[in-house]
Amino acid sequence: MKTYLVGGAVRDELLGLPVKDRDWVVTGATPEEMLQRGFKQVGADFPVFLHPKSREEYALARTERKQGRGYHGFTVYSAPDVTLEADLKRRDLTINAMAKSTAGEIVDPFGGRDDLRGRKLRHVSEAFAEDPLRILRTARFAARLQPQGFSVADSTMALMRQMVDDGEVDHLVPERVWQEIQRALHENEPGTFFEVLRDCGALATIIPELEQGDTFSAAIGALRCAHRGNSGTDTRFAALMSPLKPAEAVNRAAQLKAPNGCQDLARLTTSLIPQIRAMKAGKAETLLGVLDEADVWRRSDRFAELLSALKCALPDPEQVKLGWLESAQHAATGVQAKTLMEQGFKGKELGEAIRNERLRRISALNQTQ
Ligand code: CTP
Repeated sequence: MKTYLVGGAVRDELLGLPVKDRDWVVTGATPEEMLQRGFKQVGADFPVFLHPKSREEYALARTERKQGRGYHGFTVYSAPDVTLEADLKRRDLTINAMAKSTAGEIVDPFGGRDDLRGRKLRHVSEAFAEDPLRILRTARFAARLQPQGFSVADSTMALMRQMVDDGEVDHLVPERVWQEIQRALHENEPGTFFEVLRDCGALATIIPELEQGDTFSAAIGALRCAHRGNSGTDTRFAALMSPLKPAEAVNRAAQLKAPNGCQDLARLTTSLIPQIRAMKAGKAETLLGVLDEADVWRRSDRFAELLSALKCALPDPEQVKLGWLESAQHAATGVQAKTLMEQGFKGKELGEAIRNERLRRISALNQTQ
């Protein structure tokens, strides 16, 4: 039995990047031998085990063949006679298909080191096409490694286009697509993820609305800004969706099964943009209308995210209005229902008194500005 470090850990070590997870492949062993050595089996589909001490993943060398469409339908073959090379061959990109022996020797049958040097994301074999998720993974690695000069190899781009033309992307489940989008939003150059998807044609299936007219460059510009601001996922996604019409953003976010916070902020951002654009100075009612719609009184954290998304989404001349909104928020937040209740207001009248007091404070602010 032999053990090799594989995948991302070998790639990142050779690139001089910090190694996060370490995955191992074991050749020449049976599941029974692994269990006898104290490993714990995880996952029913693949022969993968956890090391009793380090808790790192050890997988028995395996080959995979695709049977059906989409992400399902793989037949896994794992036995002591499956070689390391056969296991590496089933992998997505050459830079992910290298191994390191316990003696420190690099095993690189598919030219991973050449592609690291040449800064290329290249598929290992035609088996790449058996898993459409790899299109998104490749786009994500492009987004991560773009600052180091990496790009997708022409032959891999051609293969990805072919996969899109064959309808492979239509069969991806939304959960997996969202997982990749979510991770891509936090990569070094998140815009590159969407550029690669557009270039291979997959964007037309995944977020087709982004392809209309000038939408794409506006969306990527807003996303880059949210990335520079070190924003959270909700804000990044809202910035990306910001050039879309509210109904388009809402429907797409739901179809992607984005988490509620992401769906919500994308809805709010897209629905408030036209109102903010139409806003005129000194209109306390309009300012309060926007603050009410954002429910700033109960959701001040989300309002901060909303402002970050809007800062990235609105053109420069509109930015001043975000300052008006912030000042109005600060002025009106101090209105206390308790004080008004002590003055005898209750029920519907209390609601009106709160609103009038907020309006009064926002108007007073406008007069001093
Ligand atoms: N892999 C693959 N095809 C997939 C998923 C994974 O070929 N659809 C292989 C690649 O060899 C990859 C390894 O399994 O390197 C481990 O996958 P994963 O942990 O998802 O990715 P990493 O390459 O470790 O990247 P990350 O840094 O994003 O964790």
